[in-house]
Amino acid sequence: MSIGATKIAVIVTEVEEINSLIKRFRFVREDGGMMPAFSGGAHTVVEMQDGDTRRLNAYSLMSDPADLSGYEISVRREEAGRGGSLYMHRSVKPGMRLHISPPVNLFAPDRRAKKHVLIAGGIGITPFMAQMAQMDALGARFELHYAARNADLCAYGAALTDRYGARVHRYYDDAGQAIDLKTLLATQPLGTHLYVCGPKGMIAWVLATAEGMGWPRGTVHSEEFLSPPVGQPFAVELAASGKTITVGATQSLLEAMEAAQVDAPYLCRGGACGQCETRVIRCDGHIDHADHWLTEDQKAAQTHIMPCVSRFTGSTLVIDR
Ligand code: FES
Repeated sequence: MSIGATKIAVIVTEVEEINSLIKRFRFVREDGGMMPAFSGGAHTVVEMQDGDTRRLNAYSLMSDPADLSGYEISVRREEAGRGGSLYMHRSVKPGMRLHISPPVNLFAPDRRAKKHVLIAGGIGITPFMAQMAQMDALGARFELHYAARNADLCAYGAALTDRYGARVHRYYDDAGQAIDLKTLLATQPLGTHLYVCGPKGMIAWVLATAEGMGWPRGTVHSEEFLSPPVGQPFAVELAASGKTITVGATQSLLEAMEAAQVDAPYLCRGGACGQCETRVIRCDGHIDHADHWLTEDQKAAQTHIMPCVSRFTGSTLVIDR
């Protein structure tokens, strides 16, 4: 996907405060048609015109993939972020018109799995909501283990228990409850696939525990979209376009390229998919790699950069775009 990619014109039909941090948004097509089909785990990119700044943020689709009358997402308010979530919370109201991208799925359930074990932390519940609706409709075997700081921040937890019963297990930090991961992983039938979405620390813990217990790599799936970090402004020379651009403090390099009308590919805009990978032609300074796509060796070599999340400090950065 890139700045010239297809967009869907939508109207915001519902905005609901779910708890002190999370709001739910529902979009329907402006032309009254059906939304494109998607599978559980897919995300859409929401375009926001925040003053002079155009932001494109990726959010997981949480609604039932069988219901294409609209899409639903949830947004967690990040006070210290770059402003996208604050814009969604403060400025997006029912009746507003927006553009979103067609869905892309980088976190699809593996249909070969005999059973799916889903581990969610906080707002990481959203892709699993769509996945569970799909798995339930298909008669697939699954269970959810959902951890949150407390009952209030366990968004949709009660509704999920109502819908899926004993397949939903909830854990609250303030009640001293924690997922007994080792026991959970040790007691799964052969052919089980494991999925995790949540904070960085939780993902690292689940992946490391599964690896340590000998789970085959292909049976363990994770999704973590990183928010582009804020930082000092920096200049970048785009060799193929013949332009030099400045990346603002709360802008990503990808957004700065788009603002300069330079076509740049992307899918996740969060350092996860590899689509935006760009060759570095010259680097006098330090690339602050924020992705989890490049290997540690590639990062150290400073020969490639992921413009959706990574920044630069130094005198000269020339990239092949
Ligand atoms: S767009 Fe996915 S890694 Fe940059």
